[in-house]
Amino acid sequence: MIEDQPAISSSSRFNRLRNWLSLAGMVLCVSAAFAFILLFAVDLFATHANPYMGILAYVVAPMFFFMGLALVLGGYFLESRRIRKGVPRKENAFVLNVDLSRKRDRRLMVGFVGGSLGFLMLTAFGSYETYHLMETNSFCGETCHTPMEPEYKAYQHSAHAQVDCVACHIGPGTTAYIRTKLNGVKQMYHQILGDYDRPIQILNPNLRLAQETCQTCHWSQKHFGDVPKTFRHYLADEENTPFTVHMILKVGGSDPVHGPVEGIHSHMNVSNKIEFISLDEHREEIPWVRVTDANGKSTEYRTEKFTDDISKHVIRTMDCMDCHNRPAHKFLSPNDAVDQAMAMGRIDVSIPWAKSNIVKALAAPYSTREEAQQKIAESLRAEYKDDKRVDSLVAEVGKIYATNFFPEMKADWRAHPDHIGHKDNNGCFRCHDGMHMASDGKTSIKGSDCNACHLIVAQGAGEELEKVNRKGFDFFHVDSEYSEPNCAECHNGEIQKE
Ligand code: HEC
Ligand code: HEC
Ligand code: HEC
Ligand code: HEC
Ligand code: HEC
Ligand code: HEC
Repeated sequence: MIEDQPAISSSSRFNRLRNWLSLAGMVLCVSAAFAFILLFAVDLFATHANPYMGILAYVVAPMFFFMGLALVLGGYFLESRRIRKGVPRKENAFVLNVDLSRKRDRRLMVGFVGGSLGFLMLTAFGSYETYHLMETNSFCGETCHTPMEPEYKAYQHSAHAQVDCVACHIGPGTTAYIRTKLNGVKQMYHQILGDYDRPIQILNPNLRLAQETCQTCHWSQKHFGDVPKTFRHYLADEENTPFTVHMILKVGGSDPVHGPVEGIHSHMNVSNKIEFISLDEHREEIPWVRVTDANGKSTEYRTEKFTDDISKHVIRTMDCMDCHNRPAHKFLSPNDAVDQAMAMGRIDVSIPWAKSNIVKALAAPYSTREEAQQKIAESLRAEYKDDKRVDSLVAEVGKIYATNFFPEMKADWRAHPDHIGHKDNNGCFRCHDGMHMASDGKTSIKGSDCNACHLIVAQGAGEELEKVNRKGFDFFHVDSEYSEPNCAECHNGEIQKE
């Protein structure tokens, strides 16, 4: 940079870079490289890898780097053209020609170095701040508004509302780290093109959550024992007759050190291992199951229809997500959403046929939320035109719709069924249906009787509901003893088929 003679006639290639434009470009390049290294380092030492860091480090930083490079080359070509045309350089214009013995040059130099350092600091600060912004839940949930909205809304009503998205969605380990980076960049690309899947499904086995992720917070050895749970329903009749089930879920535990190995959590892969084959990506159909106990003894169960050689299929080890597949994003079915609002008093149960009418309105097909809100309001206003409660009813149903149904993304209880029970989809009955037989053809998977997983301690309404049986009642299905094998034959989250 320091020179004795002004390089006016010099045409050496290096000298052609000595112009302000190229110099500014170089500063930009250095800053971008610096930001890249910084982001990389921050991310390396962060507790959770940040999926969108890839966008900053591999897209934004290089973009600035290439912009800088373009400036460098631009300056170079302008300078070359000037020389080629033999145009004399204007006095001091566009020339980097610093003579530190000149006061003006010294000032210029100090200003330039100071400015560059300041710019470097700002870049560092800016990229660090952006990095942190990108880690927040609102960034994950709100920035890509349409695609992530359903999961974000459902998450805000889940037991995990205080758990960061990244705590679940970015697994431990280096491969998870690299995958996440690449995926963040890919997501941005699809976001810009708008060609993301509707509904979004995590079907790629590499991106699926692993049990290890849940275990960073939950201890699989924990003995939960009996967990009481109440289901409050309202029938689809004129009176919206209440129908409640109080049950004790035998969650139990799976580690003999911390309690008896029993109940639902006995298949937590601590003292036994359960593997299965599923015929579809959503793991709805499971025709083959193998259980291996602590002594290494294994038993295979299969459905009658399934005669394939198992070596042709992928065998999966069962984990938390094969039951808890919606721990943070449960979309309520119309039936459950209306029951919940009624139980909480947000929908007046004295409105005749309210349960039936609202469930029908919510479950109808709509292509946009505006259309849905409008048509739901219309149908309820037509039904209850003389009822002064209609305004608050329409408002409440609108809220239910907005939190659980996302027609633009096709995300709802149908797209993302919850496997934890067996009423609206097969859930536990994917295996515990009594139809998965061992090779003897007689024994099925243990625990297919109604009291294996839970005890119904009280059921019904009014006086009926006061009667408690600690040993468990037989399920009294609304108005008759329960007889059918499979709840999801009739129940699907809408109004039940008879
Ligand atoms: C408690 C853990 C947990 C947290 C916290 C969490 N998720 Fe999820 N998420 C899951 C599980 C489990 C799935 C289903 C994965 C599967 O099907 O394999 C999922 C699925 C998804 C899907 C795929 C679509 C779907 O509904 O199956 C998206 C998108 C998503 N989550 C976004 C988010 C966002 C955004 C946040 C933060 C606002 C978040 N998640 C927080 C556990 C979590
Ligand atoms: C970062 C910590 C963290 C991670 C990771 C995590 N959880 Fe949780 N989990 C929590 C907290 C906190 C609660 C709520 C405890 C409370 O307040 O009752 C919870 C509650 C739960 C509950 C009880 C739900 C209810 O309705 O009461 C289940 C089931 C559960 N988690 C399953 C999972 C599964 C499955 C995963 C893995 C996909 C997972 N969790 C990952 C922290 C975590
Ligand atoms: C066989 C299916 C199944 C598997 C596998 C399973 N769970 Fe559960 N878990 C249940 C059921 C059913 C409940 C009862 C509560 C409910 O309905 O949400 C439950 C309850 C829980 C609870 C809440 C207990 C309470 O007091 O409410 C937590 C936390 C939990 N499970 C975590 C896990 C974790 C972590 C894993 C994996 C290591 C796991 N579960 C594996 C079925 C399962
Ligand atoms: C992938 C198949 C599969 C799914 C899905 C599944 N289970 Fe199981 N479950 C098994 C197998 C296999 C056993 C071991 C049975 C045996 O040893 O014969 C078992 C055992 C049990 C037991 C212990 C039974 C006993 O008497 O020892 C309970 C309770 C149980 N499961 C509850 C559940 C619940 C609740 C769900 C749904 C949330 C569920 N299971 C989902 C395969 C499954
Ligand atoms: C393999 C375990 C298992 C078996 C076997 C089982 N259930 Fe369940 N059941 C569950 C679980 C888990 C839930 C709770 C789901 C939840 O927490 O949302 C449940 C919930 C229920 C509910 C409440 C559902 C609601 O939404 O109101 C009823 C009623 C019920 N079961 C009846 C039965 C009957 C009748 C049988 C026998 C045909 C049976 N169950 C067999 C695991 C089982
Ligand atoms: C043959 C069809 C059929 C089968 C199978 C069936 N149900 Fe039902 N169920 C109905 C009908 C019809 C109603 C009454 C609907 C109403 O008035 O809301 C009903 C109502 C209910 C209700 C109260 C209403 C509500 O909002 O959910 C519960 C709880 C219920 N069933 C649970 C179960 C369970 C659990 C199983 C499996 C163990 C099951 N049902 C199997 C047809 C069936």
